[in-house]
Amino acid sequence: MAYPCFRTTLNLLLFLVLTLSVFAQTPNVNVTLGSHLIASDSSVPWKSPSGDFAFGFHKINGQKLFLLGIWFDGIPEKTLVWYANGDHLAPEGSKVELTLDGSFRLTSPQGEEIWKPRSSVDGVAYAALLNNGNFILTDNSSKSLWESFKDPRDTMLPTQILEVDGKLSSRLQESNYSKGRFLLRLQPNDGSIVLKTIALPTDYEYGTYFTRNTSDEASPNSSGYQLVLDKSGHLNVLLDSRSVVNLTMGREFPAGDYFYRATLDADGLFTLYGHPRAQINGRWGQTWFTIWSVPDDICSDSKGDLGLGPCGYNSYCSLGTNRRPLCECLPGFSLSDTNNKFGGCQQNSLPNCREGKSKPEDLYAIQEVPNTFWPTSSNYEQLPSLNEDECRQLCLSDCNCVVAVIKEGFCWKKKLPLSNGRKDYNTFGKALVKVSNSAVSSDEPSRPKSDTGNKNQTTSVLAGAILLEWFRNMPITAKVDVYSYGVMLLEIICCRKCLDMENENEEEIILADWAYDCYKRRKLGKLVETDEEAKNDMKKLERLVMVSIWCMQEDPSLRPSMWTVTQMLEGIIQVSAPPCPSPFSSIS
Ligand SMILES: *[C@@H]1O[C@H](CO)[C@@H](O)[C@H](O)[C@H]1NC(C)=O
Ligand SMILES: *[C@@H]1O[C@H](CO)[C@@H](O)[C@H](O)[C@H]1NC(C)=O
Ligand SMILES: *[C@@H]1O[C@H](CO)[C@@H](O)[C@H](O)[C@H]1NC(C)=O
Ligand SMILES: *[C@@H]1O[C@H](CO)[C@@H](O)[C@H](O)[C@H]1NC(C)=O
Ligand SMILES: *[C@@H]1O[C@H](CO)[C@@H](O)[C@H](O)[C@H]1NC(C)=O
Ligand SMILES: *[C@@H]1O[C@H](CO)[C@@H](O)[C@H](O)[C@H]1NC(C)=O
Ligand SMILES: *[C@@H]1O[C@H](CO)[C@@H](O)[C@H](O)[C@H]1NC(C)=O
Repeated sequence: MAYPCFRTTLNLLLFLVLTLSVFAQTPNVNVTLGSHLIASDSSVPWKSPSGDFAFGFHKINGQKLFLLGIWFDGIPEKTLVWYANGDHLAPEGSKVELTLDGSFRLTSPQGEEIWKPRSSVDGVAYAALLNNGNFILTDNSSKSLWESFKDPRDTMLPTQILEVDGKLSSRLQESNYSKGRFLLRLQPNDGSIVLKTIALPTDYEYGTYFTRNTSDEASPNSSGYQLVLDKSGHLNVLLDSRSVVNLTMGREFPAGDYFYRATLDADGLFTLYGHPRAQINGRWGQTWFTIWSVPDDICSDSKGDLGLGPCGYNSYCSLGTNRRPLCECLPGFSLSDTNNKFGGCQQNSLPNCREGKSKPEDLYAIQEVPNTFWPTSSNYEQLPSLNEDECRQLCLSDCNCVVAVIKEGFCWKKKLPLSNGRKDYNTFGKALVKVSNSAVSSDEPSRPKSDTGNKNQTTSVLAGAILLEWFRNMPITAKVDVYSYGVMLLEIICCRKCLDMENENEEEIILADWAYDCYKRRKLGKLVETDEEAKNDMKKLERLVMVSIWCMQEDPSLRPSMWTVTQMLEGIIQVSAPPCPSPFSSIS
């Protein structure tokens, strides 16, 4: 069961030997001619000898439809790493079969073909799911005819290789395995790794939102020819010159036995994940966690005036935990597909501009969306030297105007649909959006304008606000230490700064663990024993504590960015339940 752990510098030769040996090793579980699986609730998959992976039918939630796929079988989440028929789900009773005459295919109960391996595969002698998660079809001389590793979907597993011009394709949504809008490719000409958005269903390639040039300065003519996820979870590009570009260089890998996978996620981030291979003290301490991901800021890196960007039309993007895009519809718009928050937004109905003799102010109102703009979306008017009120008035009285942006003394009237919108707290200026006057009360933006007037802030909440202000005024380039911020926040909440500390470091970790403990047991009152006012505002207190626990995660990749912290503190984005801050320490 235990895999050898190559935490020390990778020996490339050894790695290649290991990779090649995957094909040489005889699988000890064969799927023989005439074997089949039927799609049903009780269908038993074919497993890899180690039991780590399974190949078979995965039921789509709440429907009598199945995906033929490969998943991690030894952990609680049966995470899919490959699927045959994402765009054409198989009804109950469908059959995948290795026929007696040596062909492999998936058919519906009526016998229609749903899927078969792309390259025409005849003369299959047996099939097997190997210990690394690769499903292979081989002929009678053990030559591989087809492998799932060579026909990837959105995920690479350790020892899997992506050849030049090979690609990964994201799924449409976390739980919808249709082809999605993002693509990873190892470029044929220069061997660079690129991430692109594509048009559906034509696959036309729009802009590139991430490029990693892999050329080697010592031998500029050498280019990358393979992207490899190695056994210890490092993502490498192998070059013609035999050197290696280590994409995950400098990342801290957890010590111990982990599963790894690199997935082009449905939100466009190419992410390397780790998951403990075994339980600790009878419990799964952790689920999949992020070790590395690109791009750093998909909201800003996605450019171009064609296509919908990470969030779809008429929405705007900001970064959440782990630099994931968060998408929101403009006021007066709602999700085009209520189940898909990345699918863009459509305008709710607006009263007819020429209706009756009413003044525009009677029909419409303007809602503000601060720090939000669409730098690559077209304008139809650009009006210099206007202040916000003038811009607002001009949009209100212009029947064509739905969205205007006031920024740097310019008033831009935007064309619809808008794409590649982003919210960026380092950019001043705001979007002004025309909405129906009658909808205003129900459409109120989530952030109250200023609720400090009549409400008496608690001391700790006030302290949080001061820190937040300090945080917001940091220049973008400043390396703000999110961890220290978390410490400060928590200390203020607990009034611990007043105490003398002997051993600061240890104290901080204990503080974080204690806070987490109180939070878990819903005993937050304990944290603020002396602060009666804070006790009266438990919702805010809980948010502050959750944010500080996120900040103090021992695994730096789990800590949120400073953007996220400000947004979470302001209540603009929801704070999800933080994991235990020190999962790797012996305390559990
Ligand atoms: C699997 O099938 C191949 C080809 O028929 C055979 O050579 C090999 O010994 C089989 N392995 C097992 C464990 O049965
Ligand atoms: C292997 O398959 C080929 C073609 O299908 C056949 O000609 C050959 O006799 C087979 N060899 C063995 C050992 O079965
Ligand atoms: C996935 O999305 C596509 C396109 O929106 C839709 O046609 C399909 O029914 C969805 N599949 C599932 C399983 O929801
Ligand atoms: C990649 O880097 C090499 C050397 O650093 C440089 O010569 C080349 O122009 C770069 N290619 C691209 C596409 O940026
Ligand atoms: C790179 O290729 C060009 C054109 O093919 C050639 O002129 C040049 O000498 C090569 N450089 C190296 C360092 O091999
Ligand atoms: C790649 O980077 C990781 C993490 O920094 C390191 O452990 C590993 O040895 C590197 N691999 C190579 C081939 O340099
Ligand atoms: C807030 O509460 C403090 C003490 O409870 C009180 O002295 C102060 O006047 C209050 N401020 C406002 C604005 O109500």
